[in-house]
Formats: sequence, C-alpha cells, structure tokens
Amino acid sequence: MNIAVIGTGYVGLVTGVCLAHIGHDVTCIDINEEKIKQLRTGHSPIYEQGLEELLQTTIHKNNLHFTSSFQNGLTNKEVIFIAVGTPQSDDGSADLSTLYTVCEEVRKYIHRNTVIVTKSTVPMGTNGQIKTIIEQKTAENISIQVVSNPEFLRQGSAVYDTFNADRIVIGSDDKEAIKTMEELYKPYKIPIVKTDLRSAEMIKYAANAFLAMKISFINEIANLCEQVDANVDDVAQGIGMDNRIGEHFLKAGIGYGGSCFPKDMNAIITLGKRSGYTLSILEAVKYVNEKQNDWIADKILKRFGDLKGKKIAILGLAFKAGTDDMRNASSIPVVQKIISAGANITAFDPVAISNAKHILPKEVNYTELLEEALDHADCAVILTDWKEIKDYPIHLFKQYLAHPIIFDGRNCLSLQAVKECGIEYYSVGRPTIKS
Ligand code: UDX
Repeated sequence: MNIAVIGTGYVGLVTGVCLAHIGHDVTCIDINEEKIKQLRTGHSPIYEQGLEELLQTTIHKNNLHFTSSFQNGLTNKEVIFIAVGTPQSDDGSADLSTLYTVCEEVRKYIHRNTVIVTKSTVPMGTNGQIKTIIEQKTAENISIQVVSNPEFLRQGSAVYDTFNADRIVIGSDDKEAIKTMEELYKPYKIPIVKTDLRSAEMIKYAANAFLAMKISFINEIANLCEQVDANVDDVAQGIGMDNRIGEHFLKAGIGYGGSCFPKDMNAIITLGKRSGYTLSILEAVKYVNEKQNDWIADKILKRFGDLKGKKIAILGLAFKAGTDDMRNASSIPVVQKIISAGANITAFDPVAISNAKHILPKEVNYTELLEEALDHADCAVILTDWKEIKDYPIHLFKQYLAHPIIFDGRNCLSLQAVKECGIEYYSVGRPTIKS
C-alpha cells in the first residue's frame, strides 16, 4: 500500500520504518527539515534499539522516503497516518493544535478516497472532529474514512513492541476502513481488536491509566512493607503469578515518569471533570505517584539531617533505562529537593546528560563515568535501573564512596550482596541493611 506518516517522533518514525519493512511504500513527513535531511541519510534522531538498521535497509530497498513537503508526501496516498505530538496544555488537557494544523494540510492535498489513521493519543471525540475538518471542502465524490489506531509502544523497545504487540486496536465507524487496516497489518500476524472510533480512543487512555495504577498500587504496598518489615519484591512475585493480576508493572520504585503516563493521566482526569465525572481512583494514582517521587529525598534527609556540604552521587537520570528521555523523569523532583537542601551533586547517566542539562538545576555536575560520580561521595542514590548501575561490582561502590551508603530507588541491587559487602542500604519496600 501507498502510505504517508505525518510526524517523525518516536511513534511516527517507528511506525513508518516498520510498515516499510513489511513491504509497504511509506513516505514520512515532518516540518523539521534538518531531521528529514538526517533521516534521508539513514541516521535516526532518536535512539531505539534496532531502528537505525531497519531505517537503512528500508531506504536501501526504496520502500521508505522522507520529505518536509506535505504536497509531495500526501499526494495519492491510500492511507495517511497522523502521529504528531499532543502535549499537555496548562489546564492538563491534551493540546491538539498541531494535530488540527496537520489536518488542514491533509485537507489541501487529498484528491482520492483516503483512510486517515490517528496514532496520536487524543481525547474521545477528536477523531470525529478530524473527519469534519478534512471533509470540509474536499470534493463530494471523495470518501474520507477515519480510524483510531492507538499505539502501545514503550520507549527503548518500540521496534520489538511493534512486531510483538499483544494486540492491534483498530477503531472506526466505517467497515471499509477497518478492512483496509486489517489488510495493511496482516503481515504482522498480531490479533486485532476491532471497535468503534470512541472506544478505540478510550482504550489507549484506559490502558495507560491501568498500568499507572498498577505502579502506584505496588508503590503503596512497598511503603507499607517498609512499616511492617516485609519485602515488596517477594510480594510482587507472589501476587503477580496469579494470572488475574499479572506479573508486569509491579516493580516498586520512585514512581512513573516519561512522556506518556503523567500526560495521559492528566488528560483522562481532565476529560472526566469536563464530562462531569470524577475519576477518584485515577486521582489517587496520580497523588501516590507524586508522593513516591519524594520518597528517596525524604529518606536521605532523614538519614543525614542536614545536606549542606554533602557530596551526593546521583546514578541514573533518564525516566527509565534504555532511553535518553528526561521528560517528567522522577529524577527531576529528587535532584531539585536534594540541591535545595544544600548538597553538591555529581550525576552519572550513560546517555541522558545532554537532555538533563536543559532541565535540572545548573548546580548539578555531570559525568559519564560512574566511578567519577562515586568518588569521595557521602552516599550514592540510584534513580534509573541502568544495566551499567545494576551490574557495577558492589565492592567498587564501597571502594569509591567516602561512606558506604546507598539509596536505591529502583531496587537494583541484591540485599544479600550489599549485606555481605558491609554497605548501609535503603531500597523501596525492602528491609534496610545497616552496615
Ligand atoms: C508507556 C506504555 O508502557 C506504553 O504502552 C505507551 O504507549 C507509552 O507509555 P513508556 O513511557 O515508554 O511506555 O515507558 P514504560 O516502560 O511503560 O515505563 C513508564 C514509567 O513507569 C517509567 O518511569 C518506569 O520506570 C515506570 N515503571 C514501569 C515502574 O516504576 N514500575 C514498573 O513496574 C514499570
């Protein structure tokens, strides 16, 4: 099929590259000319495992093209994917301005029957609005069919997730459009959930809200475990083996972050309010997450009393391992709190430092060498479960730190190993180890 994908962020780019890989002819469109130039040379502006390799092979096969011209990119396409950002507005709702601007462009260049597919996360009713905008002024004999096709990709494993998804959701009020989408996705061999337009829009928000709820749930249980000397990792395993609960998203830590969960939680809560319904569970999920961000800084303050002049090694800044993304990272409030208590911070992260510099207070020092962060620090604070940190030899923590004290916000290290090494160790929902 002849396909256009508008927006080369991580959703649009991964979608375009993967569709080209299964044999479709795909043109990716983005207004950022620099990005388009870079993509044409086969270099990805974002890091995603396996993406650059696929990008290069599909360009080589002539299945994948890049343009910054809507006219060139949209002309004569059977299916047009919209994958532009829907960031959070000041009032918590999703900002749809870019999406609607793109719809205006689409309207100008459609001269044949076309299926418009929304990948962007949008509130209920938006796809109906998209259809209305695009249908205005298009010739009467042209049919515009709109499909909601939310994505469930995780950053860091987006290519893998595309080919190994649990399901593909296709929502449309138009049977022909659903057929086209089934045909388009056939080579993936992934089960398809077919639904109406609004239910598909709701599935995306409900899925993210449910996953965020699992995380806040296990974080609450972790906090209780600390009070009663239980171990949350064992509790998570014990409940997760019940298929009705499921083992995933039960890792206790310092709270969820990233470009999706916090934004989508705000959007669904705001949508509830606007519809006259209060989503009490989800408001609690958000509240628990914000509180959990404070967990580690509060523990450090309690342990040291005063942080003035203390040197603290922050290990990991990205919102999760495998990405350089700092958007809504839980490290942000933690670092801010520790800095305002007077500590000197040296932060280690394998890839997120350049992004972190734009967001974190200017007093933070950075290093890409873990031992440089640890050197003569009064304690180490683990905020992202990078492999580099998880696999770092325990005895070296002791060797480099001025005082062998670790606060582990991701339960990265083994209790047994830190105990044997004589390290004072605080983790989330697990017994404290005193050296
Ligand atoms: C998420 C959804 O998983 C994905 O389906 C959706 O399309 C976009 O949002 P992503 O933001 O890439 O993906 O990251 P994810 O792996 O889901 O993690 C989100 C946050 O939750 C991270 O901060 C992570 O550290 C945290 N998390 C995740 C936990 O604290 N515990 C867990 O058990 C799982």
